[in-house]
Amino acid sequence: AMIEKGNYRHFMQKEIFEQPIVVAQTLRSYLRGVERTVGLPQMDFDLSAVKRVTIVACGTSFYAGMVAKYWFEQFARVPVDIDVASEFRYRDPVLEDGGLALFISQSGETADTLAALRHAKKAGQKIAVVVNVPTSTMAREADLLLPTHAGPEIGVASTKAFSCQLAVLAALAAHLAVVKGRLTRAEEEEIVEHLTQAPAALNAALDHDEEIAAMAPLIAPARDVLYLGRGPDYPLALEGALKLKEISYIHAEGYAAGEMKHGPIALIDENVPVIVIAPSGPLFEKTVSNMQETQARGGKIVLISDAEGLAEAGDNCLATIEMPKVHPLIAPLVYAVPVQLLAYHVAVAKGTDVDQPRNLAKSVTVE
Ligand code: G6P
Repeated sequence: AMIEKGNYRHFMQKEIFEQPIVVAQTLRSYLRGVERTVGLPQMDFDLSAVKRVTIVACGTSFYAGMVAKYWFEQFARVPVDIDVASEFRYRDPVLEDGGLALFISQSGETADTLAALRHAKKAGQKIAVVVNVPTSTMAREADLLLPTHAGPEIGVASTKAFSCQLAVLAALAAHLAVVKGRLTRAEEEEIVEHLTQAPAALNAALDHDEEIAAMAPLIAPARDVLYLGRGPDYPLALEGALKLKEISYIHAEGYAAGEMKHGPIALIDENVPVIVIAPSGPLFEKTVSNMQETQARGGKIVLISDAEGLAEAGDNCLATIEMPKVHPLIAPLVYAVPVQLLAYHVAVAKGTDVDQPRNLAKSVTVE
């Protein structure tokens, strides 16, 4: 059937708003509601024996992989290597026995990622694939197929596929932690509970749509925009910058908040908006001090945090967006929403072709 925009102005907007439903749909196939456990599809190898995970992807899928690296290491204590697919095989990576290579792709057809998959397979790695198109080449070549159930994604800039990838990767991280003996039964139940709450938290994040639309005119005139985050929210800063440049053509850079002082701070003045993605938590205080370094140089901050974080940060920001308080394992999913909406509304304010940005393709099947 032909896919329509319905009441939405763009496919990208429709796909952003579909996230609570498609994430719920995706999680349903990874969470066992009755047992309150995380379950994966059958595989013909022993996941508990995996010694190292190598993650390879491109674009937005690569940033989902970067988030997963934090989760796999933090929750399962499994070391993770990660590369963009176009670099992976040319650096002749060290791939030892007992390694799992994980490929993330919306289309399942990206040429660089597929070539990397075949390289890893030849080198004896078990192949896991997080993919949105179940009939794709990558899906067929996987030892462990982990589908996302985002449905067809039409907008060139990926949104709902990203949040569904994160949902699958969170479930994989939790399951890996369980089979590695890193989570008790009670802790696993608690994680299942938090993941189950993700769709409601995504809805709460979407409630800020109008507020974010009203902010767009503050960002649209900028020539450069910086995005800052720490930990699993650092890749989200990279994804925020990618979304903005893809569809609004504003130059944007994502940085680890603590790395700001080693370069980007030289760019800061009142014309460079700085988007800070920072849920409250143990690292929040450090991010606040990075914010203050920016503010001291005239930098204008848009802070995305929860009520606790916003209170702690004080009221020196150009604008704030309040997210619900969520478990660290679902924060990147929830915080993806304001980041996507901001890019979307800035692009609309600039009048660009949101669904078909210049020079970009939905699926890149050449190297
Ligand atoms: C293109 C698209 C991006 C996407 C990337 C990877 O650059 O414009 O939105 O993230 O390819 O695509 P994949 O299908 O492998 O996730």
